[in-house]
Amino acid sequence: MRALATLWLAGCTGGDKGGPPPLDPDSAAPSDTATLSQPVLESPAEAEDLDASEGVVEVVLTAATATHELIDWRTDETLSVHGYAYNGQTPGPTIRARLGDLLRVTLVNDTDVETSIHWHGVAAPWDMDGISWMQDPILPGDAFTYELTLSRAGTFWYHPHIDTERQVDLGLYGVLIVEDPEEDGAFDEDLVVVLDDWGDREDEVGEEHEDTGDDAHGHLHGEGLWTLNGLIAPQRSVSAGSTTRLRLVLAANEGYTLLGLADAEGTALPLTQVAADQGRLPTAASVERLLLSPGDRAEVALLPGADALQLIDHPYDHQGGEVIGDPEVLLDLRPEGEADPAELPSLPWEAAAPSEDPGTTDVLYVFQGDPRSGAWFINGEVYPDVTVAELARDQHAIIEVRNVSPTEHPFHLHGMHFEVLSMNGVVPDQRQLEDTVNVPIYGVARLALVADNPGDWMAHCHILPHAHGGMMTVLRVGE
Ligand code: C2O
Ligand code: CU
Repeated sequence: MRALATLWLAGCTGGDKGGPPPLDPDSAAPSDTATLSQPVLESPAEAEDLDASEGVVEVVLTAATATHELIDWRTDETLSVHGYAYNGQTPGPTIRARLGDLLRVTLVNDTDVETSIHWHGVAAPWDMDGISWMQDPILPGDAFTYELTLSRAGTFWYHPHIDTERQVDLGLYGVLIVEDPEEDGAFDEDLVVVLDDWGDREDEVGEEHEDTGDDAHGHLHGEGLWTLNGLIAPQRSVSAGSTTRLRLVLAANEGYTLLGLADAEGTALPLTQVAADQGRLPTAASVERLLLSPGDRAEVALLPGADALQLIDHPYDHQGGEVIGDPEVLLDLRPEGEADPAELPSLPWEAAAPSEDPGTTDVLYVFQGDPRSGAWFINGEVYPDVTVAELARDQHAIIEVRNVSPTEHPFHLHGMHFEVLSMNGVVPDQRQLEDTVNVPIYGVARLALVADNPGDWMAHCHILPHAHGGMMTVLRVGE
């Protein structure tokens, strides 16, 4: 009975859209024996394209309150989070478009707080970027229509950029896929997975800042409560011999994940990465571990044979790197049938070496801070009291990010992407285009960009409590 009753509780329910009543979090006591079955992972439902014409994708996203039910089938524990969702789902509807498309999204704000949408990783015009530095927030009851042209293929995401730490934490985020026609039909399946860590959640809609009784939630309230599209440790059947493009988005406020692949016995297998933040890699990369920091994306080719596979989260702490602890199984992949693993689909690879570092620096960002006080600085400044760095239109510029703090920081730049020239002096194996890159403790990142998008762009740490604490600045590109 319990299993049946929880079926309709999985995922989240719109606050005022009827639906089942939210569970009382205090009633979520663990039972003696787990009776639930392992949930089945699916890609988030896709947004409906309301414009039939080719080359235009039109979507309506309504932000509203929602209750997220996080069910741990292994223990029968449920965590009920009063948060938000777009169109009643977290992750929000996946927007699927084609390279070169015009994307038109109307955001309807049905919450009682100000909000906005930022198109993370997309070179949007400055007045469509959703940041409060350049644009008034969308008030409760109001709507705003964003329009942008999608000039790069890849896996991107969208989230508010007002009160970001709280609103992302409470469920406002979704995926934007821009397909490259040259890759049509390359993979049998496309699986979109948004990873979120609910363990570090600090707030709920309408909740006072007080101790809400960690004990009642047991381990569900600790750090490291990972969900994949809202599900804890789900499973998925795949056909042996099939090819799946796994699109990974890390939407956690501050949790990192160090991903690995293993067989049923736990023996490590390599991951085949085909794309990073800014789309397809020059050539596929076989990696033992894949580190995702907040805001990061990666695409991985899953090529199952007849044997079961597991996606593993290796314990990792941004205040110390890989740490001792038990790896956690994030996803069980259960092949059906008997075929051998397929070959990696042939994508239009174009080997490209990293660019030469000219050795000059146009913009220097020193990341500094103190985890004990929660004060976080770039160049000694706390947003919004910042010095605006300026670049000329189309300038080829070098940014150096120097981390002089005892914690890692994912550096994110709006409006443009950059190439990683080196990290701590180490040059990448091949050309690496990103919009979010993790800078190690006391590390130095050398980044090259072409300042081709005029406007004022946020440059910040994507650990959202750090950004909230002031670790954001503005980079201006002239007209
Ligand atoms: Cu994904 Cu300024 O953010
Ligand atoms: Cu940071």
